[in-house]
Amino acid sequence: MEDIILCAKGISKTYTAGQVKINALNKCDIEVRKGEFTAIVGKSGSGKSTLLRILGTLDKPDEGSVNIAGKEIENLKNSELAQFRRTHIGYIYQDYKLISEYTAYENIILPLILDGEDADEEEVSELMDSLGIDYCREKFPAQLSGGEQQRVAIARALITHPAVIFADEPTGNLDVASAETVARMLTLAASKYQQTIVMVTHDRQMAEYADRILTITDGSVTGGVVL
Ligand SMILES: Nc1ncnc2c1ncn2[C@@H]1O[C@H](COP(=O)(O)OP(=O)(O)OP(=O)(O)O)[C@@H](O)[C@H]1O
Ligand SMILES: [Mg+2]
Repeated sequence: MEDIILCAKGISKTYTAGQVKINALNKCDIEVRKGEFTAIVGKSGSGKSTLLRILGTLDKPDEGSVNIAGKEIENLKNSELAQFRRTHIGYIYQDYKLISEYTAYENIILPLILDGEDADEEEVSELMDSLGIDYCREKFPAQLSGGEQQRVAIARALITHPAVIFADEPTGNLDVASAETVARMLTLAASKYQQTIVMVTHDRQMAEYADRILTITDGSVTGGVVL
């Protein structure tokens, strides 16, 4: 189908921790259309973050293939993959992964700098303002609360207007009002700007902002509901 932007087939992943093997993903298939907002739900330890990292090209599966925007990810060299990630993918990590030596503002514009682009000051200000973190501009991550750090991480993922946004529990540390703001921003990114969103969440209300909800159980996609 021509409007499929993300297609993963037969994704399996086993972690080895000492003598123990953990089968985190077991032959997962997933297809996402351009501009679609998909929520992934499932119990703690069911494999959601593992799946998101593999879909987001941050980790490689043991088996299976991931194709994004027509590119077969396993065929890309490391340098091509890094470039592809910078130009196509925004990733919001479950643990934010902000750079501690940089201010909130510098963290947000970093993806632009890495790509040799200038930041549009007005746009950065608007983005920080809509996320309610304008007052955090010159602060370093250690001086920010969890929820503030999370919103800086969201701004950093949105600033490049990536075709696909992967969000791992993007509202896990936010109050209800901030979570609603983030939900509305993601919904708008999908509906107005045709950005594709894949979001892991524990929060039922967040999942309901999506176009469909996929359930992961013990490393497999076991259900799908279109909203
Ligand atoms: N680096 C790792 N080494 C060993 N085991 C791992 C590693 N990462 C994850 N696991 C295991 O793989 C399984 C899936 O983990 P994953 O982080 O994908 O779960 P999750 O669904 O995101 O959970 P949560 O909702 O708590 O974030 C779990 O059993 C976990 O303990
Ligand atoms: Mg997780």
